[in-house]
Amino acid sequence: MSTSNLSRVWFKVTDLQVASGRGCRVTTVEGDQYLDFAAGIAVNSTGHSHPAVVEAIARQAERFVHAQVNVFTHDLLEPLAARLAEIAPGPIDTFFFANSGAEITEAAIKLAKQATGRPNTIVFSGSFHGRTHLAMAMTTSKTVYRAGHAPLPGGVFVAPFPDPLVADRDAEVSRALRGLDHLLLSQTSPAETAAMILEPVLGEGGYVPAPPAFIEGVAERCRRHGILFIADEVQSGFGRTGKMFAVEHADVEPDIICMAKGIASGFPFAALGTRRELDDRWPTGSHGGTYGGNPIGCAAAIATLDVLTAPGFLDHVRERGRQLTDGLRKLQGGHPDLRQVRGPGLMVATGFADAARVPALVEHCLREGRLILMTAGTYGRDIRWMPPLVVTADEIDEALAAFAAALDATG
Ligand SMILES: Cc1ncc(COP(=O)(O)O)c(C=O)c1O
Repeated sequence: MSTSNLSRVWFKVTDLQVASGRGCRVTTVEGDQYLDFAAGIAVNSTGHSHPAVVEAIARQAERFVHAQVNVFTHDLLEPLAARLAEIAPGPIDTFFFANSGAEITEAAIKLAKQATGRPNTIVFSGSFHGRTHLAMAMTTSKTVYRAGHAPLPGGVFVAPFPDPLVADRDAEVSRALRGLDHLLLSQTSPAETAAMILEPVLGEGGYVPAPPAFIEGVAERCRRHGILFIADEVQSGFGRTGKMFAVEHADVEPDIICMAKGIASGFPFAALGTRRELDDRWPTGSHGGTYGGNPIGCAAAIATLDVLTAPGFLDHVRERGRQLTDGLRKLQGGHPDLRQVRGPGLMVATGFADAARVPALVEHCLREGRLILMTAGTYGRDIRWMPPLVVTADEIDEALAAFAAALDATG
């Protein structure tokens, strides 16, 4: 007989029970401290319980907890939208709020369909856009997310994403873009295609950065055909890659941008950004949600943005990212099966030749090094490094030492 009243549908990365968290560290109920390089799956951007975020949440909770957006307006909605407009790439100036990444990717497709009057969506192989039904249909990083849930919504077409293991990057980008052109000729014509949605760095798909030339090729085809270009920055946004948004590594302006995870340091909050002119084509009342724009979430997001936009903060992310990738690359010398170390910023992957090696490494880091890491990737060959963005140089060194010991012990 089950002794738990909890669902078993959640897969577990660790069996740790948290008592408290601060910065990059969590303390368990047994009093053990762990270095958290999973950061709530790239969510705790300012670390665990950043004092400014805690204070903003507490202050807002005293005022009012919920002010439903259809019923009321409140005094944090416009300020948050204005702050997001300041940091969003290109002419994105209009925002819709929800609670999770999947809600926002679904909202982005609903807006794209309404704004273009077209039915179909193009996604890229290895993508992860969420676990609701349409988001599942748009997710191709692993079969486990989709299996057993058919039928999935139609109108989703999968184009190739450049393979990071191909040495000739230019040729690989051309191959992937030819695949996209072929899709537009053979399966969903431009006149039927509302949007292309792309993660500038694949998240669950293995922390694989899209080469800038690929992002630019996708955006150019969107522009040429009147298709909307959606950047899914749910995992890569808010400084994670050393730029505020990962599309800024390429010369593009997305029509719609999906934001969640790091936006509010762990309080459930998500945002869709677009241009006013596109938002005007979204019929009032055709979308919404009970909790979107929750005042505590807005307060947490504003306090988070204060931290992320402080002078020098993104330089800090880039420096710590360089320290991490340099350290990992040094370890490659003695461990040839550590095939790739990929950045950018603090969205780092270590890719192994053999998937069988990966679980033992992660387990060793957890048990012996007190370091929490997670895997990623279609083939299960990648370990992703996504510490809180406030991580210190000493904490990076500590994590590198734990990983080096794990490589030696499990090699
Ligand atoms: C790029 C991307 N899009 C969407 C999602 C879905 O977000 P959520 O789990 O908040 O629904 C994720 C979650 O990992 C993601 O990484």
